[in-house]
Amino acid sequence: MPDLPDSGFHRVALFYDRLARLVYGDAQEQAQLVLLPFLPRQAKVLVIGGGSGWILEQLLGTQKQFDILYLDAAPAMLQLAEQRFAKYKFPHNSSVRFRLGTEQALLPHEQFDVVFTPFLLDLFPPQRLRRLMQRLDAALAPGGHWLFADFWPVQQPATWWQRLLVFGMYAFFGTVSGIKARKLPDYGLHFDELNLREAFSKSFYSGMIQGKVFVKQKV
Ligand SMILES: C[S@@+](CC[C@H](N)C(=O)[O-])C[C@H]1O[C@@H](n2cnc3c(N)ncnc32)[C@H](O)[C@@H]1O
Repeated sequence: MPDLPDSGFHRVALFYDRLARLVYGDAQEQAQLVLLPFLPRQAKVLVIGGGSGWILEQLLGTQKQFDILYLDAAPAMLQLAEQRFAKYKFPHNSSVRFRLGTEQALLPHEQFDVVFTPFLLDLFPPQRLRRLMQRLDAALAPGGHWLFADFWPVQQPATWWQRLLVFGMYAFFGTVSGIKARKLPDYGLHFDELNLREAFSKSFYSGMIQGKVFVKQKV
């Protein structure tokens, strides 16, 4: 396994999608699909942490005109996404660039109309998450959209099975993929700090999974 930052999902790439579906059914996919109508007809899109490329196929399928940067930290995940793209035979109007790395691999001048974080932000403890979100916010153009799909801290009181699932998830991926977070972040706090306004929200899996759209104010 290459010694690259945040590359721990390299080890689980071959079975991650099946495992996620086994536990959450199609809720994770639905939380991402519900966001697609918020994409403009033409946009520069950053997908960070997209994994094996399912979301990429969905973006291409919209027939909108995207210039997509697909950035993932795990070599095996990125390779799977590249293979999927190579095999995608339907007509589409988008261009795709793949890049291995974290948010640190974004170039200083790169700006996007849309930043998509599908099940990425739950991986980080608060200080690291703050820095990551600040970097992504810097790459989001004024008026741009942040598409967020992730596990969301359930409004109190969380049920026993929700607590068990969250505990199990962090224990498993902490061991296998080396993720550092131990509980679901207070995303709302970080989005507020960045002055991003929530424009849409939909819950799945009894509120445990949410698809949300945040808008960056125009200056
Ligand atoms: C939990 S998986 C989610 C995969 C996919 N989005 C899905 O919903 O099935 C998290 C993904 O984020 C990637 N990742 C983790 N930290 C990252 C970082 N700092 N920058 C870019 N990608 C990262 C992992 O390699 C993995 O592919």
